[in-house]
Amino acid sequence: MGDIQAKIQPCWVVAESRVARRWLGFSPQSLVAPGEASKSWASAGRIVGAMARAGVRRDGRLAAFGGGMIGDLAGFCASIYMRGISWIQVPTTLLAMVDSSVGGKTAVHSGGAKNIIGSFWQPSEVLICPELLQSLPRREWRSGAAEVWKYGAIMDPALWHELESEPLGPARPGLEKIIARCIQNKAAVVEADERETSGRRAILNFGHTIGHALEAATAFKRWRHGEAIAIGMAVETAISEVIGLADSGLSQRICAGMERQGLPWRAPEDLQLEALIPEMKRDKKAGADGIAMSLLSELGACRLWRNVPEQAIKEAWQKCSA
Ligand SMILES: NC(=O)c1ccc[n+]([C@@H]2O[C@H](COP(=O)([O-])OP(=O)(O)OC[C@H]3O[C@@H](n4cnc5c(N)ncnc54)[C@H](O)[C@@H]3O)[C@@H](O)[C@H]2O)c1
Ligand SMILES: [Zn+2]
Repeated sequence: MGDIQAKIQPCWVVAESRVARRWLGFSPQSLVAPGEASKSWASAGRIVGAMARAGVRRDGRLAAFGGGMIGDLAGFCASIYMRGISWIQVPTTLLAMVDSSVGGKTAVHSGGAKNIIGSFWQPSEVLICPELLQSLPRREWRSGAAEVWKYGAIMDPALWHELESEPLGPARPGLEKIIARCIQNKAAVVEADERETSGRRAILNFGHTIGHALEAATAFKRWRHGEAIAIGMAVETAISEVIGLADSGLSQRICAGMERQGLPWRAPEDLQLEALIPEMKRDKKAGADGIAMSLLSELGACRLWRNVPEQAIKEAWQKCSA
């Protein structure tokens, strides 16, 4: 951590109070309250306003020290301040290390819509220090772990096997290598489709059509992101089986993986699928031809599938809630 502190100290540091107190030996310039509510247009305005008042110049640098919430918010500020200044990311959650810090997407929420204002603005550096995960609560661990399993499912079956033999946790041997592998996997996809125009980047959205619908239908309060994605991966793989894209048995394998990691996978019985369908139609992958999902055909192979029949979603939902 010493090297990282020295590197970010000259920057305009954006961090969460709790995480900063635990890990930073100095007080950051912009302190943000924990929680998604801070990822707002108003917070961004406060941060860039303070930077302007302090006279941060065009050659100044910003540093994001925190989870995905801080990374998205601070990165957005870096992208709009003086039409864009250089920034560094120091992810402090597993999810941010393996996912949100790679790819250059920044955003804030507005008007009740998630990530509706944002930009593509690559950080000049991402500094990963797994030691920071020592203070991460267990539930946040599991949430990040879901995205790690996702890479295994969509493009890296060997990684899936490794996780099956030993799931992720603070003391897991080889953790650093696994984090590095996820970053390589994500970087390879992003390089092929940085601005999400060819459809390739959509494979990273496996589990997310259903997962986002679950999060939205429960006002983002019931599950951590990765938990909703775990259920999403199970149900979406059941859909692959129902439409004949995958052999039967694959969804059983996905559910067993989630179970092994202590993640949920059952479709919640108290939620009506009918309430989720409109959310799926609002998903960014959806087109005029209906609901779109990134579906597995086998372990390690995923592609964007358009016009997924609602009947297939219904059947899969029932299979997964049984
Ligand atoms: N830009 C992208 O490509 C991308 C990709 C995925 C997710 N995201 C965004 O990332 C956000 C979710 O990220 P997240 O799961 O990291 O959530 P988060 O940033 O809200 O962090 C989760 C919780 O962990 C705490 N925390 C963070 N680091 C800690 C540490 N080292 N020790 C103890 N506690 C710590 C935080 O206080 C918070 O309560 C969402 O806003 C999502 O939209 C962005
Ligand atoms: Zn995700």
